[in-house]
Amino acid sequence: MRLHVVPDRAAAGAVAAREIAREVRTHPDLVLGVATGSTPVTTWAALAACGLDLTRVRAFALDEYLDIPDGHPESYSAVVEREIVRPLGLDPARVRTPGDDGKDAGAPERYERDIAAAGGVHLQILGIGRNGHIAFNEPGSSLASPCRVTRLAAQTRRDNARFFASLDDVPTHCITQGIGTILRARRLVLLAFGAQKADAVAAALEGPVTSTVPGSALQLHPDVTVILDGEAAAGLAHSETVLAGGPIPFPAPRVASPSP
Ligand code: PGA
Repeated sequence: MRLHVVPDRAAAGAVAAREIAREVRTHPDLVLGVATGSTPVTTWAALAACGLDLTRVRAFALDEYLDIPDGHPESYSAVVEREIVRPLGLDPARVRTPGDDGKDAGAPERYERDIAAAGGVHLQILGIGRNGHIAFNEPGSSLASPCRVTRLAAQTRRDNARFFASLDDVPTHCITQGIGTILRARRLVLLAFGAQKADAVAAALEGPVTSTVPGSALQLHPDVTVILDGEAAAGLAHSETVLAGGPIPFPAPRVASPSP
């Protein structure tokens, strides 16, 4: 796991955008896993500022509300279109959100199949919820879970109420990529900011791997980059070890000192 602790969201967005841009330069038809929410906003802004041609990039969103009217401005298909597709100049025909081909019982399985048919996600951008969720995999989700319909945790609904007129208007159900789906992406990039995320970040990165903290599944993945501001990193006890990253240099051989 590579850990970057940076001064603020703008710096974090620049690091994440650099990772994406590097991949796009070598794979112009990259399959990018996109996240919604506040966390990746600066990543999309920094990526847009790179001025790269992203028209061949394919994208799959992590999740979508189920019980939300079509075309609602806070549906994730609308958010993805407004905050990601248009500013980045993606081809809308190459961008998918769960259930965009019909929110019927077969939608999660089709989405899982379509990700696999695209060759799998190459690089997945992730945020983390205050309760440790990744995508809408709430505490208790199987670490092997597939795309599926599930219920939002009460805390997630309260956290997302800021996007709606009232708590009652926040959807209760969603289609989400599973933790198993996310773990199949070749690279994961997790971002988190602010003191309200510190406990979830510490539990996910340094606690036991458990379905109680869905983000802890990242410890099972071989290629994870974590980008935090200082507040979100504040609960990490072993950050120096993680920060060191990379192979530990082999110690130079000791020269036996002559016996006195
Ligand atoms: P946020 O949400 O980016 O709006 O903080 C992240 C999440 O809940 O996964």
